[in-house]
Amino acid sequence: MNEPEVTTITTFAEARDAYRNKALRQALYDEGEVIMSDVIVNLHADQHRSRRRLENRLFRRDRMEEYEKKRFPAVIEETLTPHVREGHAELVSVSHQLMMNLAATTAGIDRPEGTPEESFHLYDYLMLFVEGATLAHYTGDREAKAAEVAEGLQRFDDEFLAPSIERRLAALAAHRAGDIDSSEVPVDVLCTLLANEDDLDLPHETIRRETAYYLLAGAHTSATAFVRTLHRLFEWEAAHPEEAGVLRTDPLSVQRCMHETIRLEPSSPVAMRWALDDIELRSGRQIARGSKVVIDLNSVNRDPEVFGADADEFDPHRELPEGVPRWGLSFGLGMHACIGSDLAGGLPYQEGDDVDEHLHGLVPVAAQWMLNHGARPDPSDPAEMDSATARPYWGRYPVRFG
Ligand code: HEM
Repeated sequence: MNEPEVTTITTFAEARDAYRNKALRQALYDEGEVIMSDVIVNLHADQHRSRRRLENRLFRRDRMEEYEKKRFPAVIEETLTPHVREGHAELVSVSHQLMMNLAATTAGIDRPEGTPEESFHLYDYLMLFVEGATLAHYTGDREAKAAEVAEGLQRFDDEFLAPSIERRLAALAAHRAGDIDSSEVPVDVLCTLLANEDDLDLPHETIRRETAYYLLAGAHTSATAFVRTLHRLFEWEAAHPEEAGVLRTDPLSVQRCMHETIRLEPSSPVAMRWALDDIELRSGRQIARGSKVVIDLNSVNRDPEVFGADADEFDPHRELPEGVPRWGLSFGLGMHACIGSDLAGGLPYQEGDDVDEHLHGLVPVAAQWMLNHGARPDPSDPAEMDSATARPYWGRYPVRFG
């Protein structure tokens, strides 16, 4: 087979244009069908539109408020307080545990035991699902890996998904019968899919993959952003001691730091698309039908035309041209723009907004919780990068509290 032509996009303007082009179809999960077949981020055109319309119901402003102001604080307390009591923790593992619990809450996967072991067990499933989604890059025996992932998906179903479905179907039936109030029906992705208010064709296997994808899309990205944001906050505090107090009291400052962190270190550093047609970008660049488009977010988010000559620097006070988000394009754009971006990173603050009502996002809220409990790098045990991958992930990040 001939290798496809590849067009790599490195500027903000071309990336924005490409993300919005409907003749470009998702290409990141080719060969990852075991997890990604007919999952929202892999659907196109009408099929994508109807799935997104169904799921958008969950991501309305009032629902996001309920998550951020009521449900997440309890999960953050429950997950992080035991670490504070111990006086120390390892951030990478804490990030997996915390973001797994938060993603399970949003996806609608119950954690009946509520123990750290159960969270890590779920995280192991999630890492297996990541391998399944990215099979195209797997260097070993792909068929064997696909079979292992399929088997894992079935075990996840037996242990977690089936009981979660059963509870939600019972709640939906009780609500239909008038036995319970709508406030007692779970508010999460799984329940939205089961209620299926638009009558889409959603067989069990599709619901299973979609729920697994939500765990993956919500937990892994947010966990990475959480550790990196805290690292940047520690560095910023050390370099700007005059701002240390502000970071503890002003959630908007922490939110700006999170946005600046994911601009510089996008959790998903590339987007990929297939050209379904011959395309001409506004820049005049031609993309031939059948070729692959790679959007390189590390370059796009550091485009000096947009972010200035010091685009490589971490500066949460950066002035930006109108209409440019602080996070660059780290939440994507166009039809597949991250559905959970308000949940993860909150909304941009507009002059005059009420700070208490404002949505700050779960990553900034959790990072500020850590700062307020005195988290700081452990001076006797320096953090290390993960040497097992070429991507810049932290491998170990010991912190102390108090
Ligand atoms: C810091 C955290 C996060 C980052 C950086 C992030 C990033 C992204 C990006 C870049 C895309 C676009 C992918 C593409 O264009 O191919 C995306 C899509 C998506 N994200 Fe997120 N995400 C985050 C958190 C979340 C959370 C918390 C959820 C769930 C609650 C979520 C659910 C999704 C879904 C469902 C899509 C696909 C949307 C569609 O295809 O219509 N993400 N995310």
